[in-house]
Amino acid sequence: MSGYFITFEGPDGAGKTTIINEIMKTFPSQVKYPVIVTREPGGSKISEAIRDIILDPNNKEMDDRTEALLYAAQRGQHVNEVIKPALKANKIIFSDRYIDSSLAYQGVGRDLGIKEVKAINDFATNNLNPDLTLFFDIDPAEGLARIKKLRPDAEDRLEQERLAFHEKVYQGYQELLKQYPERIKVVDASASITDVVAQSVKIIRKQLPEIFK
Ligand code: TMP
Repeated sequence: MSGYFITFEGPDGAGKTTIINEIMKTFPSQVKYPVIVTREPGGSKISEAIRDIILDPNNKEMDDRTEALLYAAQRGQHVNEVIKPALKANKIIFSDRYIDSSLAYQGVGRDLGIKEVKAINDFATNNLNPDLTLFFDIDPAEGLARIKKLRPDAEDRLEQERLAFHEKVYQGYQELLKQYPERIKVVDASASITDVVAQSVKIIRKQLPEIFK
């Protein structure tokens, strides 16, 4: 398959969404291919509907395995409806979260196991992996504090989890960094927005020089 699949990962409150929006102000004019931005959970009508179920703070009784399967299900739909067609059309896809979120949050945060969660995701996506992943590194406590400050009344079900959960998720990401050093690159997300944007574009340029004009 042609095209380029780049994913953005990190703890809650790392600022991924803000940075992607900033990058998009200048990046498309620097590259040879059209760029599309998508997100998980979500990215298509069915996947957004699954997102609402997963993140609804009223769904407190959701079983951890159900949660992992719903994330995998929305991902399968997202891949087939949005990501694969865009790759076939030779586009660059930026996805705000993808499989590593499930490995870190469900695999490690929920104790389901990285290997087990990877297996259901490989089934859901037919083994579609990103070409490059940027990990937005921020201390989980700082990330949660940012969310509280920016959106004091609107935490979703996952964000409402205690700090101990988010610290496990962070450890999960550290494990993934060890497992996939070629694919996952670290961005210091505690820096200013301008600096985080510059770090991100520099990494993309270094890893995928062929996409630039
Ligand atoms: P967001 O805040 O980046 O929109 O993501 C929503 C929440 O879903 C966030 O707390 C991370 C969580 N999540 C998982 O637990 N597993 C996944 O596979 C994905 C994509 C997100």
